[in-house]
Amino acid sequence: MEIVKTIEEVRTTVKKWKIEGKSVGFVPTMGYLHQGHQSLIKRACQENEKVVVSIFVNPTQFGPNEDFSSYPRDLDRDSEVCSIAGADLIFHPETEEMYDSFACTYVNVDGLTDKLCGKSRPTHFRGVCTVVSKMFLIVNPDRAYFGQKDAQQLAVIKRMVRDLNFDIEIVGCPIIREEDGLAKSSRNTYLSVEEREAATVLNRALTQGRVLISEGEKSVDKVKNLIQRVIEAEPLARIDYIEVVDFETIEPISLLEGTVLVAVASYIGKTRLIDNFILKI
Ligand code: PAJ
Repeated sequence: MEIVKTIEEVRTTVKKWKIEGKSVGFVPTMGYLHQGHQSLIKRACQENEKVVVSIFVNPTQFGPNEDFSSYPRDLDRDSEVCSIAGADLIFHPETEEMYDSFACTYVNVDGLTDKLCGKSRPTHFRGVCTVVSKMFLIVNPDRAYFGQKDAQQLAVIKRMVRDLNFDIEIVGCPIIREEDGLAKSSRNTYLSVEEREAATVLNRALTQGRVLISEGEKSVDKVKNLIQRVIEAEPLARIDYIEVVDFETIEPISLLEGTVLVAVASYIGKTRLIDNFILKI
């Protein structure tokens, strides 16, 4: 496995693979890799002959008061995770390699990005779409892998790929959880012992909502209310949103029908965590 820092090196390597007729899978990440990322890389390795992982903490998707500078970083450990999972190339650029100082072009997906996480993070998805588009143009993969953990991101990227005619298959992968149900996240490292325990409330609340739906409940409000009550019972939790939307359009729905995304974001102490489930009803 090779680790490169320049766009040129990625292009040269991928061009060589393509001339040899090899298929290329791509897993974009911000590093500090855990089993969630690992599952994406493994899946990419199963479905492609060559796999590129990008590790880049992308400044344009963080708001001014967010955790860009404190976001955890550990390239040595990440390289080991990628290598064990079977990746062929890590692209680990400096910020200057990705954005020159005069850069003023952005990719904006309207509508889908105003809701859920977009409400409290108004420039987040513009940053995600811009960097993912740039990565797609650099890596030129056949398939790219995204976790359902960031369900809105997955829906936005799928829309962007359709709208901009990227010739790339977007593969959504299931959420990987800790044994107690907490969705794995690089940000879980911010939690104190007490907060880590409290954080399990998100999955517990969602699970209760899912049970209610599986029992035949059709009212979105009843499901939202139940999830809200469970989270509010946890003193360290402060809800950002609880939303029930159509997974493709991210538009709110009033009746539980179709492919439904039930998503929550909540602060646990100072750390904002997200979790969700998707159900075909
Ligand atoms: P990051 O948070 O590092 O996540 C990289 C990929 O791993 C995303 O597709 C995310 O959904 C997936 N992932 C994270 N935790 C997961 C879990 N517990 N189970 C399954 N998949 C999980 O998402 C980003 O980085 C960035 O926004 C990025 C797309 C790289 C653009 O900068």
